Amino acid sequence: MELLGKPRSQRAAFLPLCLLFLKILHPGHSHLYSSRYAGDKVIRLIPNTEEEAYALKKIYQQLKVDLWQPSSISQVSEGTVTDVHIPHNDSRALLAFLQETNIHYKILMEDLQKVLEKGSSLPTQRSRRSVSGYNYEVYHSLEEIQNWMHHLNKTHSGLIHMFSIGKSYEGRSLFVLKLGRRSRAYKRAVWIDCGIHAREWIGPAFCQWFVKEALLTYKSDPTMRKMLNHLYFYIMPVFNVDGYHFSWTNDRFWRKTRSRNSRFRCRGVDANRNWRVKWCDEGASMHPCDDTYCGPFPESEPEVKAVANFLRKHKKHIRAYLSFHAYAQMLLYPYSYKYATIPNFSCVESAAHKAVKALQSVYGIQYRYGPASSTLYVSSGSSMDWAYKNGIPYTFAFELRDTGHFGFLLPEMLIKPTCTETMLAVKNITMHLLRKCP
Ligand SMILES: *[C@@H]1O[C@H](CO)[C@@H](O)[C@H](O)[C@H]1NC(C)=O
Ligand SMILES: *[C@@H]1O[C@H](CO)[C@@H](O)[C@H](O)[C@H]1NC(C)=O
Ligand SMILES: *[C@@H]1O[C@H](CO)[C@@H](O)[C@H](O)[C@H]1NC(C)=O
Ligand SMILES: *[C@@H]1O[C@H](CO)[C@@H](O)[C@H](O)[C@H]1NC(C)=O
Ligand SMILES: [Zn+2]
Repeated sequence: MELLGKPRSQRAAFLPLCLLFLKILHPGHSHLYSSRYAGDKVIRLIPNTEEEAYALKKIYQQLKVDLWQPSSISQVSEGTVTDVHIPHNDSRALLAFLQETNIHYKILMEDLQKVLEKGSSLPTQRSRRSVSGYNYEVYHSLEEIQNWMHHLNKTHSGLIHMFSIGKSYEGRSLFVLKLGRRSRAYKRAVWIDCGIHAREWIGPAFCQWFVKEALLTYKSDPTMRKMLNHLYFYIMPVFNVDGYHFSWTNDRFWRKTRSRNSRFRCRGVDANRNWRVKWCDEGASMHPCDDTYCGPFPESEPEVKAVANFLRKHKKHIRAYLSFHAYAQMLLYPYSYKYATIPNFSCVESAAHKAVKALQSVYGIQYRYGPASSTLYVSSGSSMDWAYKNGIPYTFAFELRDTGHFGFLLPEMLIKPTCTETMLAVKNITMHLLRKCP
């Protein structure tokens, strides 16, 4: 299996064989979830007054909606957009309520199941390309991603070393790729993680894309060569492995880890609220059934603890921490937990400004940028704030495409443009920190 692509002629020759493999590679097309989202809706609501915001919070609680944006009910407020996924059988109740109260709304998706099925490529397309060359333009299951990592570790040992930093709650290995030319013993490093939140599938797709681009362009692109010669990149394509797996097999909209709770039946902790930095304060929930549950104590999640341990151990070398999320089209930096600017703000701010401009230069996609608290919302216990507090000077969180049209169901067709433009932003940030600023 060649993971970086092969000439077309060879692909064509493989075609009949591939169709044979179709069933083996993707049994049952499992991401269609037995049509469990048929008739579900995604609705965008904008409360205009405090009273409307209060009324919305109450109805969200009653109906147990799946909040897409913001991520917790406590962050619903006057004047801010909220996107909610409402199950089929409750949607009439919500719509009736909205008409009664005159709250402004717009239906983003009439039938979630249909959007889900339209966005994923046909099994024939997936397998046709999987056999002759790795396909970076489809979403990959955890198993596929881990096989891909093992394969690169074998075939590109000059630039890649794969290792595990621990085990997840369900016992899966937490794999990291160390990418860069092994030249000097001491090299500065950049940490990149994707998939802290399970349902944000474009994240892991970007991590894979980044590695592919690095390997493909190392020889031809002077910028990439400089990056890999002067730096190591620690790349964790799937942070929340249990959650990601669960989002493929059971619930496409799962966000948290999969740990059990001793007193509640609800499972999982928000792995981006579980860090020891203003832990479980504003923008995080103490209730195990909430999507922003902070966990029983900081670093309670083995995935968070493993990454925190690794970063603590290597923080002298690590100059930047980059975390990939979706969706909102934003480039965020600290603080998340309070409204304040960080020291040396101008360096980080100018890095963000240039990165966003570089991103926009490709397809004109606009990103907002700024401190997470004032640009997105306040949240405590986040990985970005924690990394910053622990001495990593450049810490960023990307909220990738889009702004709600597809939300978490960003179609596979948009993987390539999204990753292409994001690549420029990441390269720009990396070159910025190689050049100047502390
Ligand atoms: C809607 O379906 C869910 C899951 O099947 C169920 O728990 C809930 O009680 C149903 N709600 C109504 C209003 O029927
Ligand atoms: C990656 O390859 C090296 C040998 O080049 C090997 O020692 C190491 O165990 C491999 N990593 C994993 C996770 O298999
Ligand atoms: C970074 O982006 C800015 C703004 O688009 C551009 O002027 C600059 O050349 C870029 N730098 C690198 C190294 O890509
Ligand atoms: C801010 O910049 C100064 C001067 O370059 C540096 O000494 C200091 O460590 C920086 N502080 C932080 C928090 O990065
Ligand atoms: Zn996220």
